[in-house]
Amino acid sequence: MARILELVLNGRRRTDAVPDNLLLLDYLREVVGLTGTKTGCDGGECGACTVLVDDRPCLSCLTLAASAEGRRVDTVESLGHEGRLSAVQRGFHEKLGAQCGYCTPGFIMASVGLLRRNPHPSEEEIRQGLGSNICRCTGYVKIIEAVKYAAELSATGLAP
Ligand code: FES
Ligand code: FES
Repeated sequence: MARILELVLNGRRRTDAVPDNLLLLDYLREVVGLTGTKTGCDGGECGACTVLVDDRPCLSCLTLAASAEGRRVDTVESLGHEGRLSAVQRGFHEKLGAQCGYCTPGFIMASVGLLRRNPHPSEEEIRQGLGSNICRCTGYVKIIEAVKYAAELSATGLAP
């Protein structure tokens, strides 16, 4: 069975016919062509597929596209404005929060969701907020620094 899916994706309304059993991850990558969201474990373990649904981090590999009906979905492609990196993007870039980069879009979106809920998180709150995301390269220290720095950039208005 297929259905008509209407949602706001990265700030723009979209309407697509999608199978009932299509995953949000596959909708984003294969129907819309937004390949920033990564497929990792494909089973809810790694967080590489994290996007925001109504500002809350969501594992798109475990989520049906149909469940996004009427909601706001934001992917990593939504970040940055007129050539300027967002605060979280700058944090990961300047604090070397990415190595191979495969996990990075998921970490960035989980971080964006965290900072929208809590603009001034403690280190413990950052660790908890990113607890569903796995990185094989960085050892996490640089990622935590990146999110702290992003919070500072946002608080001082130095990055969107
Ligand atoms: S690909 Fe979704 S949690 Fe790993
Ligand atoms: S930077 Fe390589 S898995 Fe995180």
